[in-house]
Amino acid sequence: RVVAVIMVGGPTKGTRFRPLSLNVPKPLFPLAGQPMVHHPILACRIIPNLVQVYLIGFYEEREFALYVSAISNELRIPVRYLREDKPHGSAGGLYNFKDYIMEDDPSHIVLLNCDVCSSFPLPDMLEAHKRYGGLGTLLVIKVSAESANQFGELVADPVTNELLHYTEKPETFVSDRINCGVYIFTPEIFTAIQGVFTQRKDTANMRRMNSFEALQSATKALPVDYVRLDQDILSPLAGKKQLYTYETLDFWEQIKTPGISIKCSALYLAQYRYTTPHLLASGDGTKSATIIGDVFIHPSAKVHPTAKIGPNVSISANARIGAGVRLISCIILDDVEIKENAVVIHSIVGWKSSIGKWSRVQAEGDYNAKLGITILGEAVAVEDEVVVVNSIVLPNKTLNVSFQDEIIL
Ligand code: GDD
Repeated sequence: RVVAVIMVGGPTKGTRFRPLSLNVPKPLFPLAGQPMVHHPILACRIIPNLVQVYLIGFYEEREFALYVSAISNELRIPVRYLREDKPHGSAGGLYNFKDYIMEDDPSHIVLLNCDVCSSFPLPDMLEAHKRYGGLGTLLVIKVSAESANQFGELVADPVTNELLHYTEKPETFVSDRINCGVYIFTPEIFTAIQGVFTQRKDTANMRRMNSFEALQSATKALPVDYVRLDQDILSPLAGKKQLYTYETLDFWEQIKTPGISIKCSALYLAQYRYTTPHLLASGDGTKSATIIGDVFIHPSAKVHPTAKIGPNVSISANARIGAGVRLISCIILDDVEIKENAVVIHSIVGWKSSIGKWSRVQAEGDYNAKLGITILGEAVAVEDEVVVVNSIVLPNKTLNVSFQDEIIL
């Protein structure tokens, strides 16, 4: 039996995702027309003997209630949201709900970060994990040497795949192989986390006895019940024949900023071609708009037949796209209206926003740059014939003049 756990974090995390995370918890932000967390959940569905999916976070329960009940019905696998009263770290959060997770007596626990975009090769990883016979297996990918320090860098044995060395976001280069935030563990992981708690308590008690040292280290010490999977578990267990790696050659991205979400949308749309081609707009039929490349259009959206859409566009529920509109590489959220002959390129258009006739909302499309895409927050109105380039517009603004390279508060 296998239980899957997806760590979704909470409102104090995901701040780089603003202004989009002001409206919706980041894990529910749509990529390729489906909530971010939906993609790993779908990937879990094909794991043999999967009995339960848990989402663990510190968002309010009601924020996930609708989604969780809809997806449970759709998948016919129970999906449940478990709320932490406060952040306990990525391993502490898991430990908090040990009793729920162990209720199904799983032989394996699949643990996923919700903010990664991947093909999640979970069945193959599970097979590899069983062959290795360790406590845990990490999904690993090779990245450029310059970008590696944003992640956990690691060294693995090229023959046995054993994890030999692990450093979280190191200042000096260790390796271009990084931790993808996708794991398979045996239930012994709970013993390892318990070990860290015990160690913390002992250190805290010793400090209490030595008040001078307590004063010195009070600011540095983590709460006793806060355990990070990477620093506190992976680093110390590396090189002890307990952890192994499984390298993917497929796509993988970390989703920390809105810019990257446009790139991830493209990756998931391309994956639909193989997994769920019916979700891609076909452009067949005389009443359909012209479709170029991979495009998702929600069935409730209305797109004028003279509009030209794609590549890499997703259009959410109840959006209205007018005559002659051109959309390229963008995410159009619920209830947006785009009027005649407007153009949107490399942009995210927030819920209930409107873009006037002959207006342009665009950016250069450098997904890593701060203003590399244009973002309109919720209920932004761009009036007719206005041009907005490389800018971020906070919710509820009305723009009646053009802007470039600005954050409009
Ligand atoms: N429930 C809960 N509670 N979730 C948490 C908590 C917590 O206290 N803290 C973090 N998370 C979730 C986040 O939402 C995210 O999905 C995941 O756990 C990891 O978050 P961080 O611990 O903030 O690490 P990170 O995202 O900067 O880096 C981790 O992931 C990278 C891959 O994306 C590290 O493991 C890196 O080594 C790794 O490369």
